[in-house]
Amino acid sequence: MKTIIEPFKIKSVEPIKMSTRKSREFYLKAAQYNPFLIYSKDVIIDLLTDSGTGAMSSEQWAGIMRGDESYAGSTSFLRFERTIKNLMGFEQVIPTHQGRAAERILFSVMVKSGDVVPNNTHFDTTRANVEFQKAEARDLVIDEGKQPSFEHPFKGNMDIKKLVDTIETVGVSRIPLIMVTITNNSGGGQPVSMENLRQVSEVANSYNIPFYLDACRFAENAYFIKIREEGYRKKSIISIVKEMFSYADGCTMSAKKDGIANIGGFLCTNDPELAQKEKDLLILTEGFPTYGGLAGRDLEAIAIGLTEAIDEDYLKYRISSTAYLGKKLIEIGFPIVVPTGGHAIYIDAKKLLPQIPPHQYPGWALACSFYLEGGIRTVEIGSVMFGKHDFDTGKDVELAQMELVRMAIPRRTYTQSQIDYVIEVAQTIYKNKNKITGMKITYQAPFLRHFSAKFEPISS
Ligand code: F0G
Repeated sequence: MKTIIEPFKIKSVEPIKMSTRKSREFYLKAAQYNPFLIYSKDVIIDLLTDSGTGAMSSEQWAGIMRGDESYAGSTSFLRFERTIKNLMGFEQVIPTHQGRAAERILFSVMVKSGDVVPNNTHFDTTRANVEFQKAEARDLVIDEGKQPSFEHPFKGNMDIKKLVDTIETVGVSRIPLIMVTITNNSGGGQPVSMENLRQVSEVANSYNIPFYLDACRFAENAYFIKIREEGYRKKSIISIVKEMFSYADGCTMSAKKDGIANIGGFLCTNDPELAQKEKDLLILTEGFPTYGGLAGRDLEAIAIGLTEAIDEDYLKYRISSTAYLGKKLIEIGFPIVVPTGGHAIYIDAKKLLPQIPPHQYPGWALACSFYLEGGIRTVEIGSVMFGKHDFDTGKDVELAQMELVRMAIPRRTYTQSQIDYVIEVAQTIYKNKNKITGMKITYQAPFLRHFSAKFEPISS
C-alpha cells in the first residue's frame, strides 16, 4: 500500500477549541503580538515545539501507574537504566529532569574557563551552558548545512577538516570534549551520517578527547541513516542505534523528544570517576541518583517511550508525515530548508517576504500570520531570537544569519487531516503574502528576548 497511515489508534482525546479570525485578532493583540504569550487554549494547532508535547501510549500510561516512587533504589530506575544501557551501551546512566540539566552537570564537571567545545551546531541551551562556564561553543557543521536550499542527505554532518584545524590551533588541553547533535536541530533538524560519526570518533580518539552525542532525536537520526546511507537499508533500527552510540564516550539526552515523554532527560558516560562527580552535583540540585529530578512514574514513561521511538513503523510514519508537510509547502511556493528534517519544517521567511527587511523581523511577522489566519502557533528562529540589541542606541546591532519560522511537529499528536488544515492555512497566507507587514519591538528583556518581548505591527 502506498498510503502511510498513523500506526496507532486514538484512545483518549483532548478537545481543541475552535476560534474565529476576529477572536484571534483579539488574543494576538492581548499577547502583544508574541505567540509565546498566547494561552494554549486559544491555539488550534500548536507547532511551537516537539519537546514534551508528544502523545503517550497506553503502555506508557500503564507504566505511569506502575511507577515506584521510592526515594532510593526504585525499581522504575532499574527499568530505566536497563533500557538505556541496552540501547546505548553506556555503563553509567544518570537521570535528570530534562536535557539542559544534563548539559549543566556535564559542562560543570568537564569544561573550564577558556575551553572550546566543538559541535556540529549547538542548540541554544547547550551553547548557553558552555558559555556559562566561560568557554566557547564553536559550530563546525559542513558548509552545505548552512544553505537552506542546498540538497544533501546529511546536512547535519560535522566538517572534519574544520574539527582537526580547531584542535590543532586551539590545542588539545583546551578541548575538553567534542559533541555532535543528532539530529541537528538548530541546523534544520538535519541528520548526521554514520560515516561522519565514525570519522569524528576517529579524530577524537586520535587526540584522546572524549566524544559525546546530544542524542535528543537519536531515533529519527537512525531512520535517516537506514533510508539514506549506503549499506544500512537492511539493518534494523536497533542495530543502527547501537552502532551510532558505540562511537561515543557519553551522551546528553532530552527524553521530551525521542523519549516521547512529557518531561525527563539523562546523562551517560563510561567513565566511573566522572560519573561520581556528576552524581555528586546531581544530588545538589536534581536529586538522588536513582530519580534525579524525576518521579518514578516518569522513569517508566521514558523507558517505554525510548523503546517505542525505535519502532520502524512509527519512524516511517513520523518522517513521512514531516516530509508530506514539507512537500505540500514547496508545491504552494514556500521556500523551506531542504531536504525536510525529522521533527520540523523550517520556512525561509526572508525569501518569502522580501518586502520586510530583517530589522523588521519577517519571521516574527510570518509566525503572527499563521496564528491569525488559522490559530497555528509556530516559532521564529531569526533576528528576534538571535539578534543583539544595544539598549543605549535603541538599535539592533546584530541580526541573525537566517530568518526562519519553525513548524515543529509533536509526536503522535496530530492527524493527517489536521496537517492538511495547516497546509490550507499556508495556502491562504501565500496568496496574501505581499500584504504582510513588518513588526516593531516595544519592550524587550536584556537576554532571551523572544520569550517576553512585546510587539506592534508596522502599518503599511
Ligand atoms: N539539545 C537539543 C538538540 C534540543 O533540541 C533541546 C531542546 C535540548 C538540547 C534541551 O533539552 O528542553 O529538555 O532541556 N529543544 C526544544 C526545542 C526546547 O523546542 O527544540 P530540554
